[in-house]
Amino acid sequence: MNRRDLLQSTIALAGVAACARSVSAATGAAASTDATTEFPADFLWGAATAAYQIEGAWKEDGRGESVWDRFAHTPGKVLNGDTGDVACDSYHRYKDDVALLKQLNLKTYRYSIAWPRVQPSGKGPANAKGLDYYKRLTDAVLEAGIRPIPTLYHWDLPQTLEDAGGWPNRDTAERFAEYTQIVAHALSDRVNQWLIFNEPKTFTGVGYWQGRHAPGRKEPLQFVRATHTVNLAQGMAFRALKAQRASLEIGSAFDVSPMFPATSSYADLAAAERWHKFQNLWFVHTAQHGRYPDGVLPPHQQDELLGFRDGDDKIMRADLDFIGLNYYAPFIVRYAPEGNGVPGLDLQGKWADAPGEQPRTDIGWEIFPEGFYDIVTRMSRETGNLPIEITENGASYNTPPDAHGQIHDAARIDYLRSHLTELSHAIRDGARVRAYHCWSLMDNFEWAYGYSQRFGLVHVDFANKQKRTVKDSGAWYAKVAAANRVL
Ligand code: FCB
Repeated sequence: MNRRDLLQSTIALAGVAACARSVSAATGAAASTDATTEFPADFLWGAATAAYQIEGAWKEDGRGESVWDRFAHTPGKVLNGDTGDVACDSYHRYKDDVALLKQLNLKTYRYSIAWPRVQPSGKGPANAKGLDYYKRLTDAVLEAGIRPIPTLYHWDLPQTLEDAGGWPNRDTAERFAEYTQIVAHALSDRVNQWLIFNEPKTFTGVGYWQGRHAPGRKEPLQFVRATHTVNLAQGMAFRALKAQRASLEIGSAFDVSPMFPATSSYADLAAAERWHKFQNLWFVHTAQHGRYPDGVLPPHQQDELLGFRDGDDKIMRADLDFIGLNYYAPFIVRYAPEGNGVPGLDLQGKWADAPGEQPRTDIGWEIFPEGFYDIVTRMSRETGNLPIEITENGASYNTPPDAHGQIHDAARIDYLRSHLTELSHAIRDGARVRAYHCWSLMDNFEWAYGYSQRFGLVHVDFANKQKRTVKDSGAWYAKVAAANRVL
């Protein structure tokens, strides 16, 4: 039975009208089979990267230490002891990388700004050399006829701020607003679209709850606090950008997944809906409505758990102009009376990366293109049909070069084709998706996996002078971008 069928039969068994409504929303049950794959005329095709994953130059031009420098330099944290010290050396090769974007016919580039390059210790005056780098990069992107869309925070918190408590410390929101002001002042004359955070659920959850990412803490209570600081910071950064120029368009990149109940029991179904609110809505519902989604944390404990103060509703409120969505794989959720460490949350959500019958990419993540349709249409409905940009979607395949140095990564083409087809259907059915950024432009440092997982459209030979080679998937994607349809 496939996942959608399982959900439908669950609804039938549960026989609860209210749940049936929300689950049919989750499954996108109305999806038709029409194979139209044409995209809107003004649709933007692009690629995404992030500072720590590609830049290298970790100590250059006054850059400060980030939590990822500290984490990667700590033995045992990242596979094979890999670090982002050199990465793709894009700090020095950014012109070549922009040329690659152009060669691939791309019209939008999502990159990120490293906070410790701009404010080495997370507070105080700007480091002019760091800002200059982002000015040069942005100008190169514009000169290539490509739209820049920078992310202000793709996980590189200055280590000094982590030493002061990190994201669980409320003061980090003030620091982030100050940093945002500096960057907005420097770049808002040339950048119109901005993303505040990348994947707030992941850097709080994996960084402070599961400890598999920097700063490597396993503290469920501190994790919950961190989510609130991030929500405050998002509202404050939104206002700092708008104060610079009211016409700037501002969103964040939220990683979202359809949530599937582990079994057809009503308890699992309810757990999946609760997990949806916690994982998919926790940072967007708050911005749009100034309050947390109901039914996640126990109401009598919620304020205390979050450290919520009077007036915080106004601080976290931000009328986002659009939302960014990252999609990779679904979650499997089950009711778990033993809980998961967060008080009152008696469920367990599992990222679909365990061995099983479903097809998987090389990193082990389940391939489920229908889930892309489901979650894009659901998020569209639940955010009031805001414009959407796909800020990430892609696959790790470690296809090696052949004897001629060519990379025949047919599996990545299949992955992209099936996901883009679902996306075109979501657009046809009313989701206002205006851009797609493939993760990633090139192979890079994949966080705790180091260099062992390759997500690029372009191959990087890290051992051989950083040689870049466009893969078959890159050539195919360039044609898709030019044709504005799935091929
Ligand atoms: C996302 C991250 C991105 C990249 C992809 C594979 O969670 O935002 O930096 O690592 O996963």
